[in-house]
Amino acid sequence: MFALRVVKSSVGCSAALYRSSPGVKASLKCTRSPCSLQAAGARYISAYGYTQAKVLTYSKYGEPKDVLQLHKHSIPAPTGTQVNLRLLAAPINPADVNQIQGVYPSKPPFETTLGTPEPSAIGGNEGAFEVTSTGSNVTNLSTGDWVVMKRTGQGTWRTHAQLDESQLIKVDKEGLSPLQVGTVSVNPVTAYRMIKDFCNWDWIRSGEEWLIQNGANSGVGRAAIQLARVWGINTLNVIRERENPKETEALKKDLLDLGATAVITEAELLSGDFRAIVHKLTKEGKQPIRLALNCVGGKNASAMAKALAPDSHLVTYGAMAKQPVALPSGLLIFKNLVFAGFWVSRWGDKNPQLKENTIRDIFDLTRNGKFKDIPVQEVKWTWDKDYSELVQEVQGTLTGYRGGKSIFVFEE
Ligand SMILES: NC(=O)c1ccc[n+]([C@@H]2O[C@H](COP(=O)([O-])OP(=O)(O)OC[C@H]3O[C@@H](n4cnc5c(N)ncnc54)[C@H](OP(=O)(O)O)[C@@H]3O)[C@@H](O)[C@H]2O)c1
Repeated sequence: MFALRVVKSSVGCSAALYRSSPGVKASLKCTRSPCSLQAAGARYISAYGYTQAKVLTYSKYGEPKDVLQLHKHSIPAPTGTQVNLRLLAAPINPADVNQIQGVYPSKPPFETTLGTPEPSAIGGNEGAFEVTSTGSNVTNLSTGDWVVMKRTGQGTWRTHAQLDESQLIKVDKEGLSPLQVGTVSVNPVTAYRMIKDFCNWDWIRSGEEWLIQNGANSGVGRAAIQLARVWGINTLNVIRERENPKETEALKKDLLDLGATAVITEAELLSGDFRAIVHKLTKEGKQPIRLALNCVGGKNASAMAKALAPDSHLVTYGAMAKQPVALPSGLLIFKNLVFAGFWVSRWGDKNPQLKENTIRDIFDLTRNGKFKDIPVQEVKWTWDKDYSELVQEVQGTLTGYRGGKSIFVFEE
């Protein structure tokens, strides 16, 4: 027998019932906003355990405010190895915005599976989800477990999702918050791998070697500061000046409290004093700077390269200034510097098990109080949240100085 409770709409809602195989698969699609079903108070349509979900999608590239849509759809009960999830927390990273703009190399395919009017992709690349139900062949996950997505590009800006068990990494949630779990996969993993994989640190010289980084206040930068401190590596951190000296000093102090060895401004990096600053910090050059992490590009990156010891790497992972990195020839010829790039998405796809191990390692540090949360601005995503408020948060991600990364936190 097939039974559905349908709420009649008085305003001509476009919701329609679909049944693809008798008695089993049905879904309710509604692309109208505000949906009259919701207006009628029918948040959950109870038909074989269907869950209503909202998702931020885009069907073409452009500015988030122009192309993002809030789409409502329903998710059936999971079968086989499927797992139903609800969102706990998902950040808005700069790369997520670049992806929507169409200027990011990885482009999730536009698909029709959600029933959007045009094929679409879902925004967001990382987040923490809770398992709400599992199909009968799921072996490693149970209701109440927390998971993160194995790969980027699977779409995390959604209140609920249905994925295959194989697409998920189970998280031991003991001692962790949704924020910590939801923000682990991109920034901390990037910082961790760049520090570990691009330099053969001399562990006997713990506390006597350095890394230098710009964008030190970014999610990656803050993670690098903390991991380097745990591993006995000094950090010289470059930040952008704030609007007044007091705010700049407050940010410096914030990063020093986090474990930075030294913090300078971009102006100091580019000034004639920079050599002297480095000389003093590194005990007259006896302590080598063996790695540079470049989040910014332009002159900023070239200046950092000049401080590197011979045979070191400068690893570019971001391009926040949108300026190319100019490589002084002398540094290549006489110092044998290596200029490399790192992209966590590609690395993670090639090294899935190592990615899981890296995440677990970071969680252990978090539980031990050695790895702290990034500053965030929580954006509560309630069922009735206005579409424009969600989109505005995404649009604002690449503008000006921000008090913290915006993160969607779903509240049922
Ligand atoms: N390659 C990879 O695998 C990978 C992984 C993660 C992130 N990323 C990239 O790393 C960058 C940072 O990402 P995130 O998530 O860590 O960012 P985030 O936490 O949102 O922070 C953005 C950072 O960029 C800085 N910034 C913004 N505009 C700038 C400009 N014009 N000049 C200099 N600095 C500027 C900000 O400085 P203020 O603090 O002064 O505002 C802030 O520190 C992005 O480009 C992102 O795409 C790459």
